[in-house]
Amino acid sequence: MTPTDTSTHLPRILDHLTDAVLLFDRACRLVFINLAGEMLFAVSARQVMAMRARDIFGLSDRTIETDFKRALHDGETLTKRNLTLGPPSLPITANLTIVPILEKDQEEAVLVQIEQVDRHLRISMEEQMLAQQNAARMLLRGLAHEIKNPLGGIRGAAQLLQRELIDEELREYTQIIMDESDRLQSLVDRMLGPNKPLAMAPINIHKVLERVRQLVQVEAPADVLIERDYDPSIPLVNGDGDLLIQAILNIVRNAAQAVGERGRILLRTRIHRQVTIGHRRNRLVVKIDVEDNGPGIQPGLMSQIFYPMVTGRADGTGLGLSIAQTLINQHGGLIECSSVPGHTVFSIFLPLEMGHD
Ligand SMILES: Nc1ncnc2c1ncn2[C@@H]1O[C@H](COP(=O)(O)OP(=O)(O)OP(=O)(O)O)[C@@H](O)[C@H]1O
Ligand SMILES: [Mg+2]
Repeated sequence: MTPTDTSTHLPRILDHLTDAVLLFDRACRLVFINLAGEMLFAVSARQVMAMRARDIFGLSDRTIETDFKRALHDGETLTKRNLTLGPPSLPITANLTIVPILEKDQEEAVLVQIEQVDRHLRISMEEQMLAQQNAARMLLRGLAHEIKNPLGGIRGAAQLLQRELIDEELREYTQIIMDESDRLQSLVDRMLGPNKPLAMAPINIHKVLERVRQLVQVEAPADVLIERDYDPSIPLVNGDGDLLIQAILNIVRNAAQAVGERGRILLRTRIHRQVTIGHRRNRLVVKIDVEDNGPGIQPGLMSQIFYPMVTGRADGTGLGLSIAQTLINQHGGLIECSSVPGHTVFSIFLPLEMGHD
């Protein structure tokens, strides 16, 4: 590679790093930030260019610029571990490496590399959570499978018996057996979940959302408003349209049930860059938020809602979210939830390009 090649490729190489890389001039003003840096501080390069280091890092003790000056003065790399950075509302724990750049014939500069510590923690928690939810679903599917066959036999036998019975009154009993078997059959089918292979195709996610919106709007009381805030620039998602409708429908239907007679549900789409889902880093991800202003998830239920058969509703089966999480996982994505009374958000992350690591 010639020197010219390196310089043209450099910003792209830096954008592919998982660690944030920032470059400051000697007055501690930002001259470069890579993609991971923009993600970490949730800013765009344009917003923060030429900003002072202390304002970007949001460190309370304001020692960061003194550290820069020390590194430049001593000509030595400085490492700071387990620092709390970012705005107080969204703090992150990170290790900082401060490298003085003292090239001949060039302006002095400071290169800062940031390795987010709590991200590793988040990834392993996410993996563990998905593995547990998956294990619970497998258990349930096994159970449903065991019930399915004898249930077919019971219903069939009741039907045969009914034909033989002449007494109308006795036929009522066989009818009860058949009706209850049918009810159990549909529960068992839901417990087994969708098991057809994914039929992947390029999908317009807004068409999926509009379909869900129509379906829920018809079922919900007139004073339940479903509003939209879509980013029209979102490219096509590779996915199975029917299954995505089913997954999102389960979430929006929950929101409608939560708000009751009157309330507001908001469907929002946004593009996010460099999002890690499990161990996979995705360059582009669409984030779909389903927000509602209902009473929020019942205290004590929050950590369990994605497990099968967990419900807070008298007539709920507790399968909706578990199925939704499985379907979104099959698309390489993830569903997260945060909830306080009056504000519940389910966020669905879907990778726009499958097959990145
Ligand atoms: N938007 C929401 N607001 C408040 N609570 C919610 C919300 N979404 C889900 N929940 C809680 O999570 C529980 C689990 O939801 P899930 O969809 O898995 O099952 P369900 O709605 O009870 O039954 P099913 O969907 O199988 O008919 C719900 O019973 C409810 O208590
Ligand atoms: Mg539900």
